[in-house]
Amino acid sequence: MLLYPHFDINDQGHLTVGGLDTVALAKEYGTPVNLLDENVVRAQMRLYLRCAKQYFGESALPLFASKALCCAEIYRIAAEEGMGIDCVSPGELYIADRVGFPASRIYFHGNNKTDADLAQALDMGVGTFVVDNVEELDSLHAQALSRGTRARILLRITPGIDPHTHKAISTGGVDSKFGSPIMTGQAEAIVLHALACEGIDLQGFHCHIGSQIFDAEPFIEAAQIMVAFMADMTHKHGVRLHELNLGGGLGVRYTEKQPTLDVEGTIRTIAESVKALCAQNGIAMPRVILEPGRSIVAAAGATLYTVGSVKRIPGFKNYVSVDGGMPDNPRYALYGSPYTALIANKADRCADLCATIAGRCCESGDLLGENMMLQTPARGDILAMLVTGAYQHSMASNYNKIPRPPLVMIKDGVSRVVVRRETYEDLLSYDVTDPVFTR
Ligand code: LLP
Repeated sequence: MLLYPHFDINDQGHLTVGGLDTVALAKEYGTPVNLLDENVVRAQMRLYLRCAKQYFGESALPLFASKALCCAEIYRIAAEEGMGIDCVSPGELYIADRVGFPASRIYFHGNNKTDADLAQALDMGVGTFVVDNVEELDSLHAQALSRGTRARILLRITPGIDPHTHKAISTGGVDSKFGSPIMTGQAEAIVLHALACEGIDLQGFHCHIGSQIFDAEPFIEAAQIMVAFMADMTHKHGVRLHELNLGGGLGVRYTEKQPTLDVEGTIRTIAESVKALCAQNGIAMPRVILEPGRSIVAAAGATLYTVGSVKRIPGFKNYVSVDGGMPDNPRYALYGSPYTALIANKADRCADLCATIAGRCCESGDLLGENMMLQTPARGDILAMLVTGAYQHSMASNYNKIPRPPLVMIKDGVSRVVVRRETYEDLLSYDVTDPVFTR
């Protein structure tokens, strides 16, 4: 077992994912290829559903934060499992709509929704808008009135918390681009503004403090601030608030050095403190919404690459170059995110080479990891990166006109393509000029 039970090594010394030989999968689908173990995704969804209801009460609902991985199949799975979803763009809404995801279980996020985005969401019957700012509130209000409806909303509130995670994925601080801070009085002002809008049905509040957080403490701190704010608004303005969305952010183990977060224990601890806080503050327990993204899909994923060159620069470093890189996974380039990598066809051998894993882009920052211990590879070997199910497929680009890899789902020993590999024709298909030069 490597990090998680669905990663293993078979009798041939090959890495397996969900029981399937990755060397055979690389041959069948080509590389780079993103793999996702569906049983692991479903198990995580069920864990969140069970724990949310058991500890917060029957009305609680976990939403899959689909920015972590967006494709039609993941929405179908989330719908089947009974999850809600958090969509953050009209593109995500469009795909959810096309697969028939129940609109009442969709929460529409984003710090800069355009008038057109709001119109699209209203037209498809999106259940809840998580409103970020006053301009958005006014636009939504006007559009709801013109349709003769009321928009169900939560207001995004900034609790002013430092969750001790990477700066780029920390979102709860008072100076965040998201939401309205309590500290400056802007949160209270937007509540009063919302209450004065007859086309707006204010149900409660949302906060999200950051991502890849391993400790329950910052969530409890956020819950304390949010419950106190709910109580304050109820007592001061007589508002009846029914819902509290505590966001996502639970950490995932990418390397042996990182801890394993106990999802159930963390949810139980947060729930106990929310219940106690509501009692202390004299308000009814709200319906609680959670928004896990990474912890639903990250561990289920692995990505396979083919090794091209193994370059040793004596006295300096060793480079192992692969046929992917920052276009299919920009996370190391962006955040220095740590990963576990191994040579899939030599998985039972000793990891004896310390190497930098380089991508194929014309850019020296195009790396997938540094100081990685690998089984000494040769050209043609398969390099596997583990725990790539979140924020990889969804963050991929076509930099250097590199087509994006496919997404292959694995379930009960069977694999299937759920997102096909892009082709060069796909890349050219966006160009509107005739590709044949005319003089
Ligand atoms: N809810 C809201 C409002 C969010 O902004 C996010 C993530 C989530 C839920 C889900 O958080 P999770 O459970 O996945 O931690 N691209 C970065 C992560 C950015 C997270 C953005 N917001 C990465 O690759 O690490």
